Amino acid sequence: MNVDLGGWTPVALSTDLSNGGVLRTVVEDQDLAIWRSAAGAVRAWENRCPHRGMRLSYGFVRGESLTCIYHGWQYGTDGVCHAIPAHPDLTPPTTLCVRAFGCVENSSLVWASLSQRDRQPQIGIEDIQPIRSLTVDRPATALNEMFATVRFPIADDTAPDIGEFRSISINHGLIVREGQLGDQRRLMVAALQALPGDRTAAHILTSPAASPKLKTTFSRWLERLRWFAEQSPITIGDRHPIGGTVGE
Ligand code: FES
Repeated sequence: MNVDLGGWTPVALSTDLSNGGVLRTVVEDQDLAIWRSAAGAVRAWENRCPHRGMRLSYGFVRGESLTCIYHGWQYGTDGVCHAIPAHPDLTPPTTLCVRAFGCVENSSLVWASLSQRDRQPQIGIEDIQPIRSLTVDRPATALNEMFATVRFPIADDTAPDIGEFRSISINHGLIVREGQLGDQRRLMVAALQALPGDRTAAHILTSPAASPKLKTTFSRWLERLRWFAEQSPITIGDRHPIGGTVGE
């Protein structure tokens, strides 16, 4: 499996950023507005309008432009302001532009980088689809440990037939786990995004062959994992009620 995140941070599942959608996120303390144009282009910009500093994540998308909610300045996908409603006859100078960062989409994830990069992030899995994202009040390092080591099922009452999973790849907050139940191979990918305040966004994906029931099971397992993570800080070697021993 060829995993090379190359400094990219997963910031959203592709399905959570629909055409015309805008999201707010944070990468390395940089506040970002992530948005997708009507044609499907994804962009990551400083979350600050160059005019008066309004958050661009409050803005709205029309076609291939993001419009600031405050005075309606419109920015194209190149980051340059091309229309100012208060001055309809004015062609804005090209120096009127947002601060843009690297933003790409692959493996059903949207990725951002504070430095423009030629390389794309690689997770080594082509066929993959989103389940859900959730935010956990625990640092990414702790969650990385949990995702990599805890065993399925969580408990017999919530996941009776999910099977046993093992970690097959752990790489800078990208954990790939694989399991087998009968003749079915099962896959879970957790892409972790460190957030301010020792919080973490966990973006979870699986193989396209996963049934709706299995996705629901994964989703419940993740909620349980979050509950446990937030209730009880994990210590390496601890036994805990969601199954398995951390660090084994
Ligand atoms: S602050 Fe954005 S248009 Fe004025």
